[in-house]
Amino acid sequence: MSRLTPPKKDDLDPIEYASRDEISALQLERLQWSVNHAYENVAMFKERFDENGVHPSDIKTLEDLSKMPFCKKQDLRDNYPFGLFAVPRSEVVRLHASSGTTGRATVVGYTQSDIDNWADLVARSIRAAGGTRDHMVHVTYGYGLFTGGLGAHYGAERLGCTVVPMSGGQTERQVQIIQDFQPEIIMVTPSYMMALAEEFHRQGIDPRSSSLKAGIFGAEPWSEGMRDQIESAFDIDALDIYGLSEVMGPGVASECLETKDGLTIWEDHFYPEIIDPETGDVLPDGEKGELVFTSLTKEAFPVIRYRTGDLTRLLPGTARSMRRIEKITGRVDDMLIIRGVNLFPSHVEDLVVATEGLTAHYVLEVTREGILDELTIRVEKDPVAPADDSAAGYLQKRIKGVLGVSTKVILCDPGEVERSVGKAKRVIDRRNL
Ligand code: DLL
Repeated sequence: MSRLTPPKKDDLDPIEYASRDEISALQLERLQWSVNHAYENVAMFKERFDENGVHPSDIKTLEDLSKMPFCKKQDLRDNYPFGLFAVPRSEVVRLHASSGTTGRATVVGYTQSDIDNWADLVARSIRAAGGTRDHMVHVTYGYGLFTGGLGAHYGAERLGCTVVPMSGGQTERQVQIIQDFQPEIIMVTPSYMMALAEEFHRQGIDPRSSSLKAGIFGAEPWSEGMRDQIESAFDIDALDIYGLSEVMGPGVASECLETKDGLTIWEDHFYPEIIDPETGDVLPDGEKGELVFTSLTKEAFPVIRYRTGDLTRLLPGTARSMRRIEKITGRVDDMLIIRGVNLFPSHVEDLVVATEGLTAHYVLEVTREGILDELTIRVEKDPVAPADDSAAGYLQKRIKGVLGVSTKVILCDPGEVERSVGKAKRVIDRRNL
């Protein structure tokens, strides 16, 4: 089946191929506006700046941003629900919220202009994946307070696509609708895409025969190995999309079809920094650390130096002039420390999916025996060509060899590992249960 083709230069927004100098000049102008807007209209930013002896007028260059204080998720919780809004409630046309798995939920707001910018950036992201107004987009991200569904929806509409607002769940029906409506593009979490592959097979349909040509996957970390699995299971191009509700939602950064080499940050709206998570020092491009964003155009909910908790590095632009981030390995707080070795679930995923006869349906369980932490990996066998029992020992050796961690691998039958509808839960921590 043929794939989608990348957009031509004429189809792009001029800023996507502007020179670095043009991008920096626009960023500086917008940064000065945004920092001032936050300072003048959000009490927390004013207090923080004053405490640190800094003022928006100190921003003379982009580098001056590093003098400003950070903000964090806890600040959103402390100001629940609307304490960080920078415009009167009557200007806010939309709210989104993330459920507080730890602590209170966090709430974000958008003016009409924020919603328009968001739609433009998701449209740009879908276009970067090869989408045009001639395509149909099946949206499986959840609709509701989560930004995934509505964010994808408005962007696809803005590009002029035909949108199927499916939302998550009803796995059997998802497959039926894909078969009946024949969309070219799907937007869904990578883990749920694998659950859809399974459902295609259950219904006796080869997913490679579906109408899908590209998928735009995000909302959770996923490995290059998972990309290979999805691409071969469906015969599609699998592109990465990143975002977070505090900064906007999906479409803060997205991968381009022509290169598939990490996600282009839409730098005309978000200024990225990478910091050392321990010291807070800004690291040079190319070094790995915690991603920090400052919004450049947001009216209702400006963020100045928001610490995302996500770990990656900044790379130079390739398909576009704007910089890229490397695929996100995980969050600062997802890192497991097993007997002194630092480990991310996505590292284990790469090795799991590269093992013949095993699937991407896996979960990590951390337990404590005495004073030592133990890691058990439960992974399902492929229902069509299942691995034999020796695969457990093989994977254990690979993980020890590549990641330096001793683990126990348990092979499960198809369907034994819980399926996610949205974001997958990859780690079960039984240490404090
Ligand atoms: O997950 C927004 C989104 C929806 C992005 C749909 C992409 C597609 P939150 O629920 O606020 O927002 O969660 C944000 O999810 O800080 C990352 O830790 C993680 N995340 C999002 N996209 C990716 C990705 C949405 N492509 C948090 N790769 C972020 C790795 C991702 N992690």
